[in-house]
Amino acid sequence: MSDLSSRERVPPRVLPLAYFLFAHLSLILACLIPTIHPDAMLFFLSARFVGAVHFVTLGWITLTIFGALYLVAPLALRTTMRARAVDWWILAITLTGASGIVSHFWIDEFHGMAWSGLTLLLAVAMLFGRLFGPLVRSPAPLAVRLHIAFAFLNLLAAGVLGTVLATRHKSRGLNDVFAHAHLALGGWTLMLTIGVAYRLLPMFLPARPPGRVTPWVSLVAIQVSVFDLAAALWFGERTPHVAALGLTVGVGAFLSAVARMLVRRLPAPKKLIRPDVGMLHAIQALLYLTASAAMGLVLVFSDTLDLQLVSYYGAAVLLGFLAQIVLGVGMRLIPMFVWLRAWVQSGYKERPPSPHVMPVRALLWIAFAGWTVGVPVLAHGLANTNEATIRAGGAMLLTTAVAAFVNAIVVARHALRGRPHTR
Ligand code: HEM
Repeated sequence: MSDLSSRERVPPRVLPLAYFLFAHLSLILACLIPTIHPDAMLFFLSARFVGAVHFVTLGWITLTIFGALYLVAPLALRTTMRARAVDWWILAITLTGASGIVSHFWIDEFHGMAWSGLTLLLAVAMLFGRLFGPLVRSPAPLAVRLHIAFAFLNLLAAGVLGTVLATRHKSRGLNDVFAHAHLALGGWTLMLTIGVAYRLLPMFLPARPPGRVTPWVSLVAIQVSVFDLAAALWFGERTPHVAALGLTVGVGAFLSAVARMLVRRLPAPKKLIRPDVGMLHAIQALLYLTASAAMGLVLVFSDTLDLQLVSYYGAAVLLGFLAQIVLGVGMRLIPMFVWLRAWVQSGYKERPPSPHVMPVRALLWIAFAGWTVGVPVLAHGLANTNEATIRAGGAMLLTTAVAAFVNAIVVARHALRGRPHTR
């Protein structure tokens, strides 16, 4: 860890925590919707359903990623990303745009949503501008850095499509919505998660890092396919079979790298408590990714649109894979960051407790149980439009959201004690 502690590469103290705070609150609100209003979740294109989806995609996943970039840059990409005044502006503009989007879904008012979409796009462009220099300076493999750069370009493109969808809500077709959704989920969240996972999984498992070729395969296959898929859906000229197969190749390359990491493990730190709940979430998330790829192929190659399968597929991608991998990686990344910040706060005099003992184990297990049972229950309720099952699944996910939030507060307190030696 001593290498990580050089003053230049210490992550900022409060800014990432501010992102994580709003991300956790969004996850709680997202889970409250099916728990309190299961009737709002009966049709996947109703405004409130899509609002709940954006609480997860923008509120939980995107805000966590934005905050985590300030930690990943120094800890995993070995570059500097300090918090300047402009970074606080980016946070404020992001929150304004994202909360505007979800609240306009809630009140079913699409005109105002377009303005919120433009606001969020401004924040995304500013953050990409901030990240550009650190990405160029980072000694991490180029293919990994390009995953992050392309993820931001895809988020901008998806945001533009989302804003256009909002302006022509009444005349939009199902394929238009799917084009935006795939560009956002595949191009932004999947691309970024994979790029960062190439650096973080070897640290957390721990294991030998992937070879040089696999990250290039996933980068090219996912980028080309996601753009092709979105174009095929948006312009509606052809069926997206080739794009779907290409996306599967990209995901398969990444999964094969993870499988190799799992068999090429390195000795774990002595204080790591087994089983490692964060990594259990990550592995479960990757199983959902595999299942989603299979379901996606079935959907693309079948003649009729099976709406039940669409529900299972959507829940598997969004909740089983993306939301869960963010949860699991955060369970390891945040204590590591907090440990480093606490050490800095002590003026490098007093070693804080190990990051492995900071989390409350009982809360981690409650969170794990809630998500493990809640995702299939909610998916089943959505697929069968059964309000009682949707409510039960939502309540289980809510248990996870609350447990993860309380645990994050307990962990984050270590970083907030003492005098800030660096901001
Ligand atoms: C500027 C940002 C964004 C805007 C303005 C926006 C707007 C929209 C709009 C208008 C729809 C279609 C709703 C309808 O017509 O029924 C939609 C659907 C969707 N969006 Fe976004 N969106 C944004 C960002 C994102 C991001 C970053 C993600 C994922 C990471 C995402 C994921 C989705 C999904 C999955 C759907 C489909 C939901 C469903 O079918 O239930 N969006 N979005």
